[in-house]
Formats: sequence, structure tokens, C-alpha cells
Amino acid sequence: MTKKALSGAGLRGQVAGKTALSTVGTAGSGLTYCGYDVKDLADNATFEETAYLIFNGELPNQSQFDDYKKKLKGLRGLPDALKEVLERIPADAHPMDVMRTGCSMLGNLETEADFDQQQDSADRLLALFPSIIAYWYKFSHDGVRIETETDDEQISAHFLHMLHGEKPSELHTRVLDVSLILYAEHEFNASTFTARVCASTLSDMHSCVTGAIGTLRGPLHGGANEAAMDMIEGFKDADHAEAEIMGMLARKDKIMGFGHAIYSESDPRNVIIKEWSKKLAETVGDTVLYPVSVRCEEVMWREKKLFCNADFFHASTYHFMGIPTKLFTPLFVCSRLVGWAAHVMEQRADNRIIRPSAEYVGVELRKVTAIASR
Ligand code: COA
Repeated sequence: MTKKALSGAGLRGQVAGKTALSTVGTAGSGLTYCGYDVKDLADNATFEETAYLIFNGELPNQSQFDDYKKKLKGLRGLPDALKEVLERIPADAHPMDVMRTGCSMLGNLETEADFDQQQDSADRLLALFPSIIAYWYKFSHDGVRIETETDDEQISAHFLHMLHGEKPSELHTRVLDVSLILYAEHEFNASTFTARVCASTLSDMHSCVTGAIGTLRGPLHGGANEAAMDMIEGFKDADHAEAEIMGMLARKDKIMGFGHAIYSESDPRNVIIKEWSKKLAETVGDTVLYPVSVRCEEVMWREKKLFCNADFFHASTYHFMGIPTKLFTPLFVCSRLVGWAAHVMEQRADNRIIRPSAEYVGVELRKVTAIASR
């Protein structure tokens, strides 16, 4: 056990509740959803099947899958009032603030009046999040009011279609689909824990998810993929990357996209997304970003025994598909919504308000003196 775990900093190593949704660092390749290895799902399932699994505990059969896809497809339309709000958010806003506002606004328009609606609320958010971010992005950056009801079967294709204005290739659809599978669920991470704490007060789904988005926004959590992109973009080639990383380590800078609070030797999602990054690099004829990324990985392991987490190779992967860096973390939201919502439902099913205690380290008990004598 590490020193930090013993001292309890960051609640590391402490079991804060039960879940049947996922395991991290204990089974299979290191990450499982409802008993399935994430590698198995990334190789053999789609994001929509994975979402169904996480919500229902079982993979869908064909007719369940067809019904679920049809339901999600029918929920992509943005209410006019939400469009108006999105159109008022400036282009230089942080896209995670757009997601947070979009989710919160939807909570006003389509309030989850009682918990019987929880699956419908979750499905609506799952279907709508790509529309929210794509609509705001295209309006604020290009002045275009896009149609958010595409006929694409998959959420991955739907998002890329809205972003680029044309149907994506099968390869890009598949790569984004895999990415969404990898990000879908991750036990009691910071944003999910936020959602569960909120759910434990018997709050509504939109409040739980809005809080989770705010938590995911930080660079120590979801924001790492964008920060990693900003970093690798600044490296001319692999040697330059090595020299810069060595300098950053000497200055004790944090290198985004490396390390993990739970995994100690590798992140099982990295090997999967790295493979797709390599494939895309070959497709676009990249000779810089992928080799730079690989060199960063080698140097970090050689110098610090720190490994790439899921975010690091996501940076180059998304970049190769023409996804603007500022949309990286919102895409994480589009996927992790599944985990958040499933945890909200799990918390509600066996709830007790989450209210830990604190160790008091302040001043001793004292008396209030009259203000004139202070
Ligand atoms: N770059 C440089 N040093 C790092 C590092 C990184 N990415 N990640 C961890 N370290 C260092 C820590 O500073 C610490 O050094 P110290 O003992 O001298 O203080 C040591 O490695 C051990 O850190 P650890 O206890 O394993 O980290 P943590 O559990 O507190 O934090 C993260 C985990 C993920 C927040 C941390 O690794 C990090 O900030 N990574 C970069 C952000 C990121 O990629 N986040 C996405 C997570 S999926």
C-alpha cells in the first residue's frame, strides 16, 4: 500500500460503496463492465450494445438492440428553447461549460419528475449530448444551424456526420465507437462519485449529471486528453519530444495523459486506443504525432515508470479524425454519461445519503469576544 493510501489522501484505497457495474484493476485486462472485459467489448460490440449492457446488466439480443437503437435515434432532436440557449453561448466558451449548461437547461425543459422516468432521462441525454455539442460548435464557430436528426445508426457516426457535414468513413465510425466504449464506465472515479453523492440526496438525474460534468472538466480527470494534445502538438519530432519531456520532469511538471489513481502498471484502455491511433496515423500519412506520442510513452516509462492512461493516445486518435481539440472532453461526456446514469440508478436502488466525516485540524474551542476588543 502506498503512503498516500495509508494517510487516506484523496480517499485512495478506500472502498466507498458497492457496484455491480464495473471492476477496475482486478479482473480480465484490468477493466470489466458487468462481467465483460472492455477489450472483448471493444473488439466485438458497439457503443450502443455497451450502453444497453451497463444499463441492463446484460447484452441485448437482436430485437432489443434494434429497439434500443431506434429509441436513441428518435431522441436526437434539440428543443427550440435549448437551441436558443446554445446560440447565446460564445465561441470562446469552454465546451465543457456548454455541456454543463446544456444538461442543466434540459433539466428545466424535461424535468425528471419521478424516478420511474430515470431510464428515459438517461437515454435522452445519451442521444442528445452529441447534438448539444455539435449544434453549439457549428453555430458559434461557423454560424451554421445544423440539423441534429441524422439517419446514422450509431452515435459515433451521428456525431462525426454533424461535425463534418458528411457521412464518416466506416473506419472513423468504428474508431470513435471503440473510443466511446472505452470511456463508458470506470467505477468510482471522481465524476461518477460526484453523481452518486448527488443521487444519494434523492436529487434528479440532470442535477447528478450536471455535477459530474463539472467534475470531469478538470485537467486531472477528463480534461487530460485535451491537455495531452496541446502538449504533443508543440513537439516537432520524437527527439524534440524527448528533450522537452525530460525538461518537464526535471521541473516536476505534471505530464498530462500519464499515470492513474488505481492502475499501477498500465491502463488497459491505452493498448486498445493506441492501436487505433497507429492505424489512423498510417491512413493519414502522419510521420510526427504518432512517433512523438510513442516517444513520450517510452521516456515516461523509462524515467518514471509512469504509463499512458486512456487519455494520451486518444489525443492523436481524435486529431487524426479531424475532431477539434476543444471537443475532446465533451466527447468523453457523451460516453461517460452511460456510467454516470447507471451509477445514479444503482445508488437510488439501495440508497443512504453519502455523508462522510472529516478529521478536524482547526483551532481549539474558543469564545467570541466583543467586536470592539478584537
Ligand atoms: N506526470 C508527472 N508526474 C506524475 C504524473 C504525471 N502525469 N502522475 C503522477 N506523477 C507523480 C506524482 O506527482 C507523484 O509524485 P510524488 O510522489 O513525488 O508526489 C507520483 O507520481 C505518484 O503519483 P500517484 O499517487 O500515482 O498519483 P495520484 O493517484 O495522486 O494521481 C493522477 C493520479 C491521474 C491524477 C495523476 O497521475 C495525474 O495527475 N496525471 C495527469 C493527469 C491525467 O492524465 N489525468 C487523467 C487520469 S485518467
